[in-house]
Amino acid sequence: MAFSYMPGFGNDFETETLPGSLPQGRNSPQRPAYGLYAEQLSGSPFTAPRGTNERSWLYRIRPSVRHTGRFKAEKYPLWKSAPNVGDHELALGQYRWNPVPMPKEPTDFIAGMRSITTAGDVLGQTGMAAHVYVANRSMADDHFFNADGELLIVPQVGALRFVTEMGVIELRPGEIAVLPRGLVFKVELVDETVRGYVCENYGAKLTLPDRGPIGANCLANPRDFKTPCAWFEDKETPCRLIVKWCGQFHVTELDHSPLDVVAWHGNYSPYKYDLATFSPVGAILFDHPDPSIFTVLTAPSGEEGTANIDFVIFPPRWLVAENTFRPPWYHRNIMSEFMGLIHGQYDAKEEGFVPGGISLHNLMLAHGPDATGFEKAFHADLKPVKLDNTMAFMFETRFPQMLTRYAAEVETRQDNYIDCWADLKKRFNGTPEGDWS
Ligand SMILES: [Fe+2]
Repeated sequence: MAFSYMPGFGNDFETETLPGSLPQGRNSPQRPAYGLYAEQLSGSPFTAPRGTNERSWLYRIRPSVRHTGRFKAEKYPLWKSAPNVGDHELALGQYRWNPVPMPKEPTDFIAGMRSITTAGDVLGQTGMAAHVYVANRSMADDHFFNADGELLIVPQVGALRFVTEMGVIELRPGEIAVLPRGLVFKVELVDETVRGYVCENYGAKLTLPDRGPIGANCLANPRDFKTPCAWFEDKETPCRLIVKWCGQFHVTELDHSPLDVVAWHGNYSPYKYDLATFSPVGAILFDHPDPSIFTVLTAPSGEEGTANIDFVIFPPRWLVAENTFRPPWYHRNIMSEFMGLIHGQYDAKEEGFVPGGISLHNLMLAHGPDATGFEKAFHADLKPVKLDNTMAFMFETRFPQMLTRYAAEVETRQDNYIDCWADLKKRFNGTPEGDWS
């Protein structure tokens, strides 16, 4: 079955599965068509300024109060929330991991969530968590919503299907999806085994960055974002709803499916985006701009220019700068950088950072090209070069990212990452030419 989408970012969408199921001219008629219940899902306070005010009206078979019963506690011990400080013995450092191992036991998307870092405070609605998901089983009758934040999903292996109460999103590596806070969904696997990255955003919603002098086009263009059309099921069989709420998990039993929204309208909705449609902008003579030039989505923190989260990609592009060290420069950063590689090779690391891997460069910890990458770049013949077949990304936050015990102890953590810079030798010899031998 092919699912359809509506184009645009943050539009006021409307969609119905049955003719006339979406009320026109009002939100809450006395008797909605088909015997549906009208329900508002708010993504912002009622009184938020118009530009950031988000809500949708859902017309559903049962109101959501019938999709919860009595809750009982549930455990997902590898999904952590901030603050999660001091649960391991690993000292401060720059860290890198090979891909998180695939599960051997049957594991669905929720049980397969492995938190790598947490930042900020889930109760204060600031900060984020960076996770990796691994799964080999679809969620058949289990459903989930996250009251703690929106989820930015970055698949790395395998295609999946997010069956949400507002429609179905099919997602494959190279695309991303954002599921807003509170949205009920389940995850079906299209491929047998899947893996990817998740940024759980506790703070204000991700939005498009301002473009400043770049103007009205390029980077991520709004029309390339896709929001699913309405989809529902009328299923009267036992189901469960799992809720993540203030870092804790709870489960409730239902005798029907909660995915029963027949029509909806509004601007609070899930969406997906194909990273291949990002139009990169960069230096066309010398030097290079800061990596913020590759920001796809940004979540503000309340302090101007200081993001709670920036989602940044490093896509295929031409390198043309003259008399320039072309890889990323060495740097220390007040923001904290969690990086992943979807496929290919990243231009600052010749080896060791593999697809599915992770690197973490935290608040004020130095990093940059490894010794081999540096050697190659300073010897390079600076003709135009296409950096191709690559897609790396970064979850960057203003908050330090605290490692979880899982990340500290998992066997795929590389003990020798710091050694990648060991061969950067002294080239200063007191002469203006230096020693570039
Ligand atoms: Fe960096």
